[in-house]
Amino acid sequence: MSSLTSGFKAEIAMLVGPDHVKENDAVSAIDYGVLAENLDAGMVVLPGTAEELAAVVRCCHAHRVAIVTHGGRTGLVGGGISRAGEIVVSTARLNRITFLSPVENVAIVEAGVTLQSLQEAAADYGREPGIDLPSRGSATIGGMASTNAGGIAAFRYGVMRHRILGLEAVLPDGTIYSDLTRVVKNTAGYALSHLFIGGEGTLGIITKIAVKLEPVPASTATVLFGLSSTQAALNAMQRGLKARRGHLRAAEAMWSRYFHLTSTHHNWSATDYRKDHPLNLLLCLGGNDDADVQAEVESIYEDVAEDDENVSAVIASSKAQERSIWALREDTDLIYRIYPGAPSYDVSVPLSEVEGYLEQRMAKLRELDPRLDPYIFGHLADGNLHIVLNAARDAIDTDKAIAIEDILYCGLHELGGSFSAEHGIGSKRAQTLIRHAYPEKVMLMKQVKACLDARALLNPGKVLTQ
Ligand code: LAC
Ligand code: ZN
Repeated sequence: MSSLTSGFKAEIAMLVGPDHVKENDAVSAIDYGVLAENLDAGMVVLPGTAEELAAVVRCCHAHRVAIVTHGGRTGLVGGGISRAGEIVVSTARLNRITFLSPVENVAIVEAGVTLQSLQEAAADYGREPGIDLPSRGSATIGGMASTNAGGIAAFRYGVMRHRILGLEAVLPDGTIYSDLTRVVKNTAGYALSHLFIGGEGTLGIITKIAVKLEPVPASTATVLFGLSSTQAALNAMQRGLKARRGHLRAAEAMWSRYFHLTSTHHNWSATDYRKDHPLNLLLCLGGNDDADVQAEVESIYEDVAEDDENVSAVIASSKAQERSIWALREDTDLIYRIYPGAPSYDVSVPLSEVEGYLEQRMAKLRELDPRLDPYIFGHLADGNLHIVLNAARDAIDTDKAIAIEDILYCGLHELGGSFSAEHGIGSKRAQTLIRHAYPEKVMLMKQVKACLDARALLNPGKVLTQ
């Protein structure tokens, strides 16, 4: 039952206007995104400016009401779950691109701008944000900053943390922290903005972001390889990194079970392409000239065929074919349609350890339960693997879930990897963080949280369990 008082609600309605406060049926009409629990608070507030948002936070601070901030609601770790007695603050109306300069290669955007809108606006100037993810249509720049999102281009241009030059955020007491520098170099004191990047709305609410842009290449070429091993894929990716005519833009891997699922669903086939390879690798090159990048892809194919004589390959000969290959990689929702709520894992593994990691950990999963044969795909160039179980959430009890996490996560930190690569901690991995992050880190995180948000009002129970 909601404990929000009518006085509090009236104040909030005055701050943002009654039309921008949703309750009851108006909340039911909102798309909850990945999890229905995202809207359990039952009250969604949509400020129209950073100042309005700050006023809402001040009001919540005074009334000790907790806030869950929402961007696109398509996060994968329950970072947006809300409960009765809390309010959801949505950044949907903070959707303006206020500055975009091809001279500076910088855009300043409000938090609710979607990645796709920024990509489209930047493309008008021959620029791109240097970050791309399959959920580009829903993911907001504010949400991506809050979760320190990674994606396809991270191996080349870094993750959100590296794309952000400056930001503005509202602190838990409603103070506006404004550091909208738009230069690369800035050693003026502690890099405090980075507390909010990856903070998942627990330390402050990001309202504006200065994002670094990159030039869009004039030409691209895409090839899909079917390969006989993870090592062969790593070799092919390394060959891609050495491209002379153009540069590697993406190296996306699909292990056989996942590839079988999406290629069958999309009824995809290509002449001489066998569908039984242990691994399929999508390489994309960018460059200045169509003929050059096409020639480079062909030369990569020749070198890959020398390394792996069982290779299959299809070089996209049209934009439509390019898109159909990308759809095989990006249509990950298919898994969840078969296995609702399938437990998924998002690990980073140093490249020289990827093959051993997969061999050993998959063997241990099979030992635990011979029926486990996960779908695996991911961003091979930076070692980010997405592992999704071939089991519905309800089919895995708590003990088994812990055993599976131990198999996938134990020793990963010592190996130089991470149990949480790019999706964040949210509520889903908050217990996991306690179990698998080193204790000194968790202790310091708690100190930082207590220092910034003493009343524990911002996104409670996310990232840290308390
Ligand atoms: C992807 C998401 C799951 O890479 O991170 O498809
Ligand atoms: Zn990913």
